[in-house]
Amino acid sequence: MAKRGPTYTCQACGAVYHRWQGKCDACGTWSSLSEEAQAAPVPGGGRASGGRARGRIFALESLKGETQDAPRIVSGIGELDRVTGGGFVPGSVLLIGGDPGIGKSTLLMQACAAMALTGRRVVYVSGEESTSQVRLRAQRMGLAEAAVDLAAETNVEDIIATLGQGERPALVVIDSIQTMWSGEVESAPGTVTQVRGSAQALIRYAKTSGACLILVGHVTKDGQIAGPRVVEHMVDAVLSFEGEGAHAFRILRGQKNRFGATDEIGVFEMTGLGLAEVGNPSALFLAGRDQSAPGAAVLAGMEGTRPVLVEIQALVSPTALGTPRRAVVGWDTSRLAMVLAVLETHGGLKLGQHDVYLNVAGGLRVGEPAADLAVAAALVSSLTGAVLPAGAVYFGEIALSGAIRPVSVAAARLREAAKLGFGSAVLPAGGADTGDGGGLGLKRLGHVGELVAEIAATAPRARSGQRAPQADR
Ligand code: TYD
Ligand code: MG
Repeated sequence: MAKRGPTYTCQACGAVYHRWQGKCDACGTWSSLSEEAQAAPVPGGGRASGGRARGRIFALESLKGETQDAPRIVSGIGELDRVTGGGFVPGSVLLIGGDPGIGKSTLLMQACAAMALTGRRVVYVSGEESTSQVRLRAQRMGLAEAAVDLAAETNVEDIIATLGQGERPALVVIDSIQTMWSGEVESAPGTVTQVRGSAQALIRYAKTSGACLILVGHVTKDGQIAGPRVVEHMVDAVLSFEGEGAHAFRILRGQKNRFGATDEIGVFEMTGLGLAEVGNPSALFLAGRDQSAPGAAVLAGMEGTRPVLVEIQALVSPTALGTPRRAVVGWDTSRLAMVLAVLETHGGLKLGQHDVYLNVAGGLRVGEPAADLAVAAALVSSLTGAVLPAGAVYFGEIALSGAIRPVSVAAARLREAAKLGFGSAVLPAGGADTGDGGGLGLKRLGHVGELVAEIAATAPRARSGQRAPQADR
């Protein structure tokens, strides 16, 4: 049984200690422990003395039996419904995380308004902004007519009592969970214990009432949903809203979804009138690209079930530093290190004296290994100064042996490339599911050495003293 008295809770991961210490043993964060009056009751865990001694007996059920498919409430915003897996599920709880100012409140207000217009009751509770601020934003987006019930409240008990009045809402938005506090939890608002306690109470409300609940969660510098990692385990779905400050594109991505796939993305563009859906992301990501400069390759990628074309930019430049720099935006740093090592070992390139910068254009984050080949092509192009053919797309996974391995759904990637006017594709030698190839000229490569030789052959002579590299296979 837990000891009474003050406890110290890690604000990053929620681990509880009885003594203060400088570093959390559970997650390794420094100075993250703060004193809280008492540990929160563990859901389903043992109670302190004084609780019920005997449990209630309930009936067990079998896996067989009547269960309908989860009915869905469609929000009317196509890109949002795509990510949730076809609409909101009644009684489910969704957590949306994202950097401040990325557009979470905007997106949710638009979803609320769209649902209110279909005649359902929708409640939007803001813990951060006053009702007049929320109203002003809705007016700017031309949504003032929608019958959304608005409140600026932070006490969970008050909110739940109010929601119990009148018609049961179909959708409740809590903006943000970090601002909520429950009178039953003895801890300051914003602490892990408060967030967990408030979330628990709200989730219980959603499960018993059948309303769909959306919680907004703040995100820390390193992209984690702040404080309550625990909340991520309590909810049915976690979505993250991403984007680069300088770009107007916003990407909604599923991280966890009990009712659908997690690899779908929704693409939006921030405009003066709120978020607009982007039906054809490839055209957007490729807009304004400079086709005459070396170091750029177009990846025919997949985001969920949707093919997305995006430009990969690389800059390889001689370094003045002892340890060359490797900086990446939109891709995995360790994956870049791997591709560089493979190019050195199996492609015969010398990159040890070069800084390497890699950027995925348009603010997209690419996670799939199929990007390896496009990254390698961009790197070789930048190093050698050879401009890649403007009408070519690249996809394929690179193995540590230097082999180029097939990736899934090649046919869909090629069709998308053909649709956007590309004429050729560089792809792995193995793998057969290219369909009709979308009418593209296909160049199949089996090894990075072939890629390096191919690109180096078109390189201008003696650029910045670098000899065009040879494949040493
Ligand atoms: P907001 O939804 O308040 O972000 P969050 O809730 O994630 O913190 O969005 C704020 C930003 O969006 C702000 O910088 C202004 C911009 N914005 C527009 O560009 N157009 C609009 O129509 C709206 C409502 C906001
Ligand atoms: Mg907000």
